[in-house]
Amino acid sequence: TLIRREDYLAPAFWIRSVDLSFDLDPAKTLVTSKMRIERNTAVAHGPLCLHGEELNVLRVLIDGESVSFRQDGDLLLIDKAPDADFLLEIRNTCAPEKNTALSGLYTSGGSFFTQCEAEGFRRITFFLDRPDVMAVYTVTLRADKAKYPVLLSNGNLLESGELDNGRHFAKWHDPFPKPSYLFALVAGDLVAREQKVRTRAGRDHLLQVFVRRGDLEKTEHAMNSLIASMVWDEARFNLPLDLERFMVVGVSDFNMGAMENKGLNIFNTSALLASPATATDADFSRIESIVAHEYFHNWTGNRVTCRDWFQLSLKEGLTVFRDQEFSMDMAATPSARAVCRIQDVRQLRATQFPEDSGAMAHPVRPDSYAEINNFYTATVYEKGSEVVRMYQTLVGRAGFEAGMKLYFERHDGQAVTCDDFAQAIADANPGSALATRLEAFKRWYSQAGTPRVRARGVYDELARTYTLTLAQSNPASPGQEHKLPQVIPVALGLLGAEGQALPLQLQGETEAAGLERVLVLDQAEQRFVFINVAVAPVPSLLRGFSAPVLLDDGLSDAELLVLLQHDADAFNRWEASQRLALNRILAAVRSGQALQLDTAYLEAMRAVLKHAGLDAAFKELALTLPGEAYIAEQLEVVDPQAIHAAVEAAQIQLAAALREDWIATFEANSHTGAYSPDPVSSGRRALANLALGMLVLDAKAQSRADAGVWLGRAYQRFKDAGNMTDRLGALAALVNGHAELAEPALAKFHAQFKGDPLVIDKWFALQARAAEQGGRVFAKVRQLLQHPDFSLKNPNRARSLIFSLCMFNPAAFHRADAAGYVFWADQLLALDAINPQVAGRLARVMDRWTTLAEPYRSAALEAIRRVATKPDLSNDVREIIERALASG
Ligand code: ARG
Ligand code: ZN
Repeated sequence: TLIRREDYLAPAFWIRSVDLSFDLDPAKTLVTSKMRIERNTAVAHGPLCLHGEELNVLRVLIDGESVSFRQDGDLLLIDKAPDADFLLEIRNTCAPEKNTALSGLYTSGGSFFTQCEAEGFRRITFFLDRPDVMAVYTVTLRADKAKYPVLLSNGNLLESGELDNGRHFAKWHDPFPKPSYLFALVAGDLVAREQKVRTRAGRDHLLQVFVRRGDLEKTEHAMNSLIASMVWDEARFNLPLDLERFMVVGVSDFNMGAMENKGLNIFNTSALLASPATATDADFSRIESIVAHEYFHNWTGNRVTCRDWFQLSLKEGLTVFRDQEFSMDMAATPSARAVCRIQDVRQLRATQFPEDSGAMAHPVRPDSYAEINNFYTATVYEKGSEVVRMYQTLVGRAGFEAGMKLYFERHDGQAVTCDDFAQAIADANPGSALATRLEAFKRWYSQAGTPRVRARGVYDELARTYTLTLAQSNPASPGQEHKLPQVIPVALGLLGAEGQALPLQLQGETEAAGLERVLVLDQAEQRFVFINVAVAPVPSLLRGFSAPVLLDDGLSDAELLVLLQHDADAFNRWEASQRLALNRILAAVRSGQALQLDTAYLEAMRAVLKHAGLDAAFKELALTLPGEAYIAEQLEVVDPQAIHAAVEAAQIQLAAALREDWIATFEANSHTGAYSPDPVSSGRRALANLALGMLVLDAKAQSRADAGVWLGRAYQRFKDAGNMTDRLGALAALVNGHAELAEPALAKFHAQFKGDPLVIDKWFALQARAAEQGGRVFAKVRQLLQHPDFSLKNPNRARSLIFSLCMFNPAAFHRADAAGYVFWADQLLALDAINPQVAGRLARVMDRWTTLAEPYRSAALEAIRRVATKPDLSNDVREIIERALASG
């Protein structure tokens, strides 16, 4: 059944406080819940209707007396609930060790963990499991002391002590009312890294990071990230930590990255543990941003939460924005900030753009869902963050901070909507470009699809004017035929042909307003006339990617080369590099002819590589070709093999033409000294790895006489690497460039790291993402399914092998013989029986099947249909599959 946003009704009852006690046992855990309940007199009189899934009820008492109740599916109904406030006591059991869905209370590695967002609490006990019901929790945990020496829940520890039969207990109290999705408990044999910190306001806090014994030395980076997040949120938004104790716990079996439970964040170990020997630079930076993300939720999500799940982006879009801003501020230099922005945009284009034009396209604030877990999407998170960024662009940084202040003044302790947020930012900035267009701006929440912006400029030499015409359109999405114009901030600058920045003066203005400004496009088409323009300009539009749109600026190669060399905006410099490559790849794919890179492009890339003033990190991004998913987005009919062939040809030619420069680049960047994950040294490692990959690829592709030299050097570097980034980079160079020589290295890597699951995940993923060569990667993945280390039950492992192939290796997955799709359907059905949430993600692989060329399209449809006929599909998978079918 479909849940609709417009059907929202306030709850018939409020639960003001709850006293929970757990007798923890993996097979059968006993839960006793005592709830203080009152009727919500604002809504119609009705029965008390509690959610509960896969629970076994033992008794139900109201004010100490047993009361009649009925169960209807996943609801427990009490018809005769009193009108006056009452105490409801429910006893039930659940089975944590059988919980392979990893939602609710489950066991992992012999310990207990919970995941309640979005609707996991109802798998623990009966409750009004919806975010607008906020209660104060007191939680008592009882468990065997030897097996579960650590007992944690939200808030402050009130007391703890011994019980009979080797058991012990701990009692926790969280003073902040919260929705059930923020409840958490952890019980197990864990150890903690601890740190005491004093905030600017002079309050002391205890920070703890709990992990399994043996992982403690991998928690330093997470602790540092947590401290940095606290400092940043106080400095930037004046938001201090409101708890005496803040705990973070790692768990190996986890559906997502991490969870912001009040005072007790629970993390996938992949988003928490890092050491130079076992984690890459990318891991270090992901950990920093996820630790920050969960910490920032304490205000944006927990203190102010969502009224209903349609408002999910209220907390997620805003918190992603906050973690992106944090990462940029941590990066410190302007160029390192730009690198952060480029990476975020690359991610948006690779995941959110395809989502927004596919079967699952939905607005940032969806209108309906069958399964809310399917809506923890790139649109809600990443596009949601872009929407928040546009508020900041429209009202300025100080204006945005004032808006946040007003938001908390108005809504602290409440469960609110995206409209409430928009109103607070606008009200704090009366007369701003946002406030004057608020209703139109809010179309970003209601309209799905990526707007297209077309920009064309005309220079009038005599009048010295430059007329820029901006037009927008947004193609239809499922359920949304016609769309209205959106409010699109377009940051821009104008460059002369020598690259000089030109002053920007619009017609009607008495003087130029600087060298960069933000135009607001809010009509289907608008003209902006710049005056006193000395020379024919090259426009640098959408600087810093000021809006999540697809831009068609019609710039020639010559103009893109000007931007690549001179643009003051590093993002647009990078964008020029990508556009130059994209134009060539698309031309080859569209014409069906072999790609042949021209001298102009190759020399421009050489100039970037040799440029003394550019950072290594930037060079690596500029020299990396656009992703195959983003390339596919530009085409009406997608032949994944043709795209892959063009990208591969481009890579081989780039490798050959720049060979001497790759050698020099590798030599200059291959030694970064004692490991530190800072932007400068990680940028150098990234560039060295790119260069090494190119050199190994080139040695093989051109059968060079000295081919053995580079293969030997790659193997040597793999063996002797002082950190995981260098080691994995060298291994990837071997696997992608010379698969047959990579086997001994892969075996060595496995033997060296067999005790470390997170590294073994990398081992699986590297092989499943390797450059396909005549079907050998696909065959290898099928073989790896049988590997003793493979398991479908552990989400990280399933992702490392199956998702890597189906989602991140189009050339290995989209096969003319349909074997990739058969593999997908088989694995999807197997996974669905274990973990519907993770299966729902895998189902998304077929979002864009309608754009595939034949024979892929028909074969994909057949696989989707086969899944659809399975009678007992989860809600999660069924919704995705039905939407995929409906899009055809
Ligand atoms: N709120 C978490 C985060 O973004 C994600 C939890 C999602 N859980 C889920 N079952 N979909 O940090
Ligand atoms: Zn989040």
